[in-house]
Amino acid sequence: MLRIAHISDLHIACTPRWEQLNLKRIFGHLNWKLNRCRRHSLKVTERALEKIAADPPDLVILTGDLGQMGLPQEFEKAEDILSPLTRKGIPVFSINGNHDRYGQEPDSDKAFEESRERLALGMKVDESGMLNFPEEGIEIILLNQAQVIPLFKSGGWNGEAAIAKLDSALTDRKTGALRICAGHYPFISPSGIWLPPVCGMRDAEALKDLFIRHQISLYLCGHIHAPFRSTPFDGCLQLCCGSSSITDMVRYIRVDNGAYEIIER
Ligand SMILES: [Fe+2]
Repeated sequence: MLRIAHISDLHIACTPRWEQLNLKRIFGHLNWKLNRCRRHSLKVTERALEKIAADPPDLVILTGDLGQMGLPQEFEKAEDILSPLTRKGIPVFSINGNHDRYGQEPDSDKAFEESRERLALGMKVDESGMLNFPEEGIEIILLNQAQVIPLFKSGGWNGEAAIAKLDSALTDRKTGALRICAGHYPFISPSGIWLPPVCGMRDAEALKDLFIRHQISLYLCGHIHAPFRSTPFDGCLQLCCGSSSITDMVRYIRVDNGAYEIIER
């Protein structure tokens, strides 16, 4: 059996240094100070991680928004927060969310990549973004969908090249394994509406076609901070685990109060 813990949208925030400020980050910082800091709490995350570490899964998938403003110091702090898992030898596979990319910032992208490698404890995805567990009959595909986007937008996309690469990798593989994909953006909202490009995936249709062509039957995602599950199209279950740091129990009602979910096969 393979046990996967799914967490998402930690939104770990640090104060930007002067040289890290730009217009988008000024708004991001204000958004944090005036609004989000009251809705996200590290205590919620720490409690969830404690529970996960107490009954260790084989791996953890973190579906984006480790940080709040795409700052290298946020990724560093995230590693520290996640250390109760990594110290126990549980690899954490993280993909980026829109809050992990705040502009054309190679230093920040590099810091995210380096953090990601350390969190995964040296386990690597193959060049099409796949992790294989042949004994358990599971293939996990990790998609990085966060792109450099303008202020006040939160959408992203997979990109033609990434989808084509995955398509050709999956065409050559006839393993009969259960295929699980993880990305930041859900296909559909809790009310069943396809997310528009301004806040969802611009190329959701292309990803849907890929899922259908290659029987990808489970999609783990975040972005929407409320946990919910749905079937965006036949043959695919979408699991959004909600933010693993959210405290706002009025707007975001947690079914299990767990801030994470466990997937077992
Ligand atoms: Fe988020």
